[in-house]
Amino acid sequence: MSTENVEFELTEEQRLVRSTAKDFAEKEVLPLARKVDHEHYFPKELIPKLSALGFLGVFVPEEFGGAELDFVSYSVIVEELARVCASTSVIVSAHNSLCIWPILNHASDEQKKRYLPKLASGESLGCFALSEPSTGSDAAAQTCMSKKEGDTWVINGVKNWVTNGPEADVCILFTMENPEEKHKGINAFIVDLKTTKGVSIGKKEDKLGICGSPTSSITFDNVELSNDQLLGTPGLGFKIAMSTLDGGRIGIASQAVGIARAALEDSLQYARERKAFGKPIGQHQSIQNHLADMSCSIDAARLMALSASRRKDAKLPYTRAAAQAKLFASEASVQCALKGIQIHGGYGYVREFNVERYLRDAKITEIYEGTSEIQRLVIASQLLKE
Ligand code: CAA
Repeated sequence: MSTENVEFELTEEQRLVRSTAKDFAEKEVLPLARKVDHEHYFPKELIPKLSALGFLGVFVPEEFGGAELDFVSYSVIVEELARVCASTSVIVSAHNSLCIWPILNHASDEQKKRYLPKLASGESLGCFALSEPSTGSDAAAQTCMSKKEGDTWVINGVKNWVTNGPEADVCILFTMENPEEKHKGINAFIVDLKTTKGVSIGKKEDKLGICGSPTSSITFDNVELSNDQLLGTPGLGFKIAMSTLDGGRIGIASQAVGIARAALEDSLQYARERKAFGKPIGQHQSIQNHLADMSCSIDAARLMALSASRRKDAKLPYTRAAAQAKLFASEASVQCALKGIQIHGGYGYVREFNVERYLRDAKITEIYEGTSEIQRLVIASQLLKE
């Protein structure tokens, strides 16, 4: 199937990354995809294989054992993984863009040496803890507190919806130090989840989709952190969170494109095979209209994701481009999955076929790393500033 349509837009290296990711996804990830979904199975056997290809240290410099690739390559990898298993793609994207990226950009040399080699090799899995039980879209309203006592930071509070939480070793944690200073009172820390006293991981959430991507709360009960676990300077936490999410949102856009592609590819196959009124349903205009609309929105969404990635690689402002890509791609993905189900008719509604999974997996892309409503808010506020 040629639903990729990106050859001419990629450099030779990026094309090689894409074919490597596609081969890996089809050979290693696809055979697990239904088990991952149906059994809510975390595909741990993929971790060493992903790291061997550099997919767990996509932007990490070679000196720390990473692949040192650009953001376009990252988008391409996430899309190819999501095309066969959205759960695997988000395990990879949360690790790379939400945990490694802020370390690369804000950590001290000593922190980089301590964390990046283990993250890039897959020895450690990363996560990002910003949301709380009562703090989601209004990210500045943090209630997990960090209090300085001598040379120690004492952390108390609960984080929610942490992708990779049940499996993660390293966490980028956001806390409030001075509520009266609002976003300027927020700090970021790097926390070793498995060895720090007072950290407890909540139950694995029973989710509608991306069922193999483990999600949990994390509770911090009088957790003592040393000063060298602070990421950046005190008060920089909100900006670290927002700039990290700018990149993360491009990854979610690519994830959405991958899921939508899967819906189109399955639908094309079904439309060729299934007959109604004496001919394959793909020869009926009503089905062709759905296929055409899916193809247009997938190509447009991918162009937006790659354009945002290119702006990031070129060090141009990309907050709006990232939000636009995520907003458009996630909504397109849900629509493509719905159309895929419609094309499959009754078979689209049962688990024997994969299109119902695509809808369940696509839906979260409109919610995590900022809801569609928040993306619209970010886009409009950037437009008004520009
Ligand atoms: N990059 C850098 N700095 C930024 C920024 C960005 N993208 N966006 C805002 N800032 C800065 C502003 O410049 C401002 O700084 P100054 O005061 O120095 O000018 C400061 O941050 C405050 O900005 P705003 O006034 O715009 O902030 P706000 O409180 O109005 O919030 C918001 C803006 C866009 C609504 C933000 O709260 C937001 O993005 N909310 C959604 C949070 C989110 O995406 N959560 C998902 C969590 S991750 C997850 O889903 C789980 C997972 O594991 C995958």
